Amino acid sequence: MTLKTDPQQLGAFIEESSRLRASTQGLSAQFTSHKEEFWGLIIPKSSALHLRWAAENIDTGPLGCPIDLHLDHRAASRHLHFAARPRECPGASMSLLEQQIAWTRVVE
Ligand code: HEM
Repeated sequence: MTLKTDPQQLGAFIEESSRLRASTQGLSAQFTSHKEEFWGLIIPKSSALHLRWAAENIDTGPLGCPIDLHLDHRAASRHLHFAARPRECPGASMSLLEQQIAWTRVVE
């Protein structure tokens, strides 16, 4: 209902739904190039890593309750739906545009 009366909120809605329902929760395609110690755990060279970074999307922070939808979230685009630099999704802008078009039709 908010989106019908105030379509300006669509951008924040898309970012927030990306944060809350990230379709990419993590990836397995990373290998360690050398032996590494991570929080006391020794990880041998060439280990396959399954990185689960999306938990960060619902970590506590400036948001009161991180699993609620916050259309007033000031840093709404600062989520990990598209991963993060240096290896982030180069199609993020296209995806956001597609979502904008699709949600506009839905709201109409
Ligand atoms: C909701 C939609 C999308 C999500 C959630 C998403 C998410 C991601 C994530 C998390 C990665 C990083 C993978 C990694 O670390 O290896 C990635 C990479 C990539 N994405 Fe997307 N993506 C989306 C849409 C798109 C679109 C529309 C395109 C192209 C038009 C695209 C093209 C790519 C490419 C080429 C890479 C590989 C980049 C690299 O290997 O450095 N993605 N995507």
